[in-house]
Amino acid sequence: MSGNGSNPMRPFIGRLAGIRDVATGIRLFQVEMAETEGQAAAAGYRPGQFAFLSAFGAGEAPFGLASGRGPYLEFAVSALGHVTHTLHGLEVGDPVGVRGPLGNWFPMEEIKGRNVVILGGGIGGAPLRPVIHTILDNRDDYGHLTILWAARSPDLLVFTDEFDEWRAAPDTEFHVTVDRGDENWSGNVGLITQLLEQVAPQIDNTVTITCGPPIMIHFAFLTQQKLGFTPQQMLTTLEARMHCGIGKCGRCNMGEKFVCIDGPVFWQYEIKEFLEGFL
Ligand SMILES: Cc1cc2nc3c(=O)[nH]c(=O)nc-3n(C[C@H](O)[C@H](O)[C@H](O)COP(=O)(O)OP(=O)(O)OC[C@H]3O[C@@H](n4cnc5c(N)ncnc54)[C@H](O)[C@@H]3O)c2cc1C
Ligand code: FES
Repeated sequence: MSGNGSNPMRPFIGRLAGIRDVATGIRLFQVEMAETEGQAAAAGYRPGQFAFLSAFGAGEAPFGLASGRGPYLEFAVSALGHVTHTLHGLEVGDPVGVRGPLGNWFPMEEIKGRNVVILGGGIGGAPLRPVIHTILDNRDDYGHLTILWAARSPDLLVFTDEFDEWRAAPDTEFHVTVDRGDENWSGNVGLITQLLEQVAPQIDNTVTITCGPPIMIHFAFLTQQKLGFTPQQMLTTLEARMHCGIGKCGRCNMGEKFVCIDGPVFWQYEIKEFLEGFL
């Protein structure tokens, strides 16, 4: 389901049910869908999909869905430009538009029974949150879970309020690192790729899921290959410039693939020749 009624470009109407800061400059918006059709679309959401969130009068922008366990569609939005700054100025109760969920999703069914290594960099952790929740809420369906979480600085780490739960979860290890610490930081300092080499997760029967800035994805893939992971074991999700989100405008193309409809989730072997174009 992509849009309202017969027009896939027309958003469903929603209402902001909750807003909270999840890192410096990053705000989590909880959206309650107002219309029956929008509620049905939201209920069909799968981890890895994205949606356009609009602030009326300002325009719309695509965001990976960061939905938690509650009834709302959730978006972690970094304030960068016009639309995102306008969204940051909204208040609980304000109307918003939602076009989506759109795109493909992480193959959570197909990877059942396998170990999962998650690498989240900065706001790239947002679409990985529903993956983590899916695994923790169906713990017996998956093997060992390794979560590597990173940000440029401690104040940019997202979802810190969930770290205790992730650390304490059965058959789960959680590691966090920052590029630069501050006076209150006593944890790891260094790149997520260095942390990955230290942790050296098991290769057999393991799938990796990486999300972050393109440069991080590039080097995370190289490190994973160095450790022995094959392209068939490495998943990621890409952020391309988008306009329509439904395969019509050609704005997001990557060779013959469109990030909006063939992705945003890809295996490494599907995108390796195009990844450098994103750096
Ligand atoms: C599938 C997908 C998932 C995304 N998920 C998230 C998310 O979870 N949270 C989040 O905060 N952002 C996410 N983004 C990026 C988000 O769409 C942009 O930040 C947003 O469009 C900026 O809109 P703006 O009008 O505020 O800024 P603009 O004025 O349009 O741009 C502000 C700055 O951001 C740059 N920019 C805009 N769009 C992109 C893009 N797609 N990739 C790289 N740089 C861009 C511009 O070049 C400019 O420098 C995602 C994008 C895609 C395609
Ligand atoms: S955004 Fe229009 S084709 Fe992908």
